[in-house]
Amino acid sequence: MAEAKRIDGKAAAARIIDIVTRETATLTTATGVVPGLAVVIVGEDPASQVYVGSKAKTAKACGFKSIKHELPAETGEAALLKRIADLNADPEVHGILVQLPLPKHIDETKVVQAIDPDKDVDGFHLINVGRLSTGASAKAFVPCTPAGSMILIREVLGDDLSGKSAVIVGRSNIVGKPMAQLLLAADATVTIAHSRTRDLASVCRGADILVAAVGRPEMLNGAYVKDGAVVIDVGINRVDAPEKGHDEDGMPKTRLVGDVNYADASEKAAAITPVPGGVGPMTIAMLMANTLRSACRAAD
Ligand code: GUN
Repeated sequence: MAEAKRIDGKAAAARIIDIVTRETATLTTATGVVPGLAVVIVGEDPASQVYVGSKAKTAKACGFKSIKHELPAETGEAALLKRIADLNADPEVHGILVQLPLPKHIDETKVVQAIDPDKDVDGFHLINVGRLSTGASAKAFVPCTPAGSMILIREVLGDDLSGKSAVIVGRSNIVGKPMAQLLLAADATVTIAHSRTRDLASVCRGADILVAAVGRPEMLNGAYVKDGAVVIDVGINRVDAPEKGHDEDGMPKTRLVGDVNYADASEKAAAITPVPGGVGPMTIAMLMANTLRSACRAAD
């Protein structure tokens, strides 16, 4: 089999951000509304800091007002809930994103449910989860990573996914479950596999569309991939890369890898997303699209 097509998520994300930027300019000129995205981060988890930084930066580049709320790790649940209530009430804020995970002493579910569903641009609120899973998705905010993954899948396979067999490895609320809902809504035949699935490799080999969202570096290799499958790698794992040398403290340098062994899976797949440069940039692009949509609704 010829080597797989590399699905360029960075280029697809740039196209979406370009459209969002132009539509934002039109909205602002016509109505005076500037889309506002509030990004809340509690504590100093370095990976979360990086994600939040690039979300805020992209929002600014789109012409949004981006407000970063950096709260110390010891922030209490009540103080965080108060901050969310203030953002819910602020007419200049159209999207609220609380970066997860939160510190252990804060009840994540309670915090997410406190966000106004109509400002929940992450699509994590139960109202939006319900809208997506019942097909009332016209009003739903769809979680950004699965929404971006669907665009990449459609870039390869076109709009008609009817009857395709899709296997999602991972059952998280953020990725696995909403991904299943989107593929189901597109008439794919969907299997959600997870750590307890028996003979995972053979289940995965049944997939025309294989989505890996397990958070285990390079766990899936060519033995999990059917000839001609489309492979979407949602994993972002930082691993030691001593071959790149060491830092001044003698620690090995690191590199990012996905949940799929790219080189090995490429020998079987028809198309595959790389890490970095695949799904990651799409997540941010979809967050911008969701925020603009919320601002348009507010301007109506
Ligand atoms: N943590 C990891 N991914 C995400 C995401 O998409 N949104 C939020 N809020 N937190 C995350």
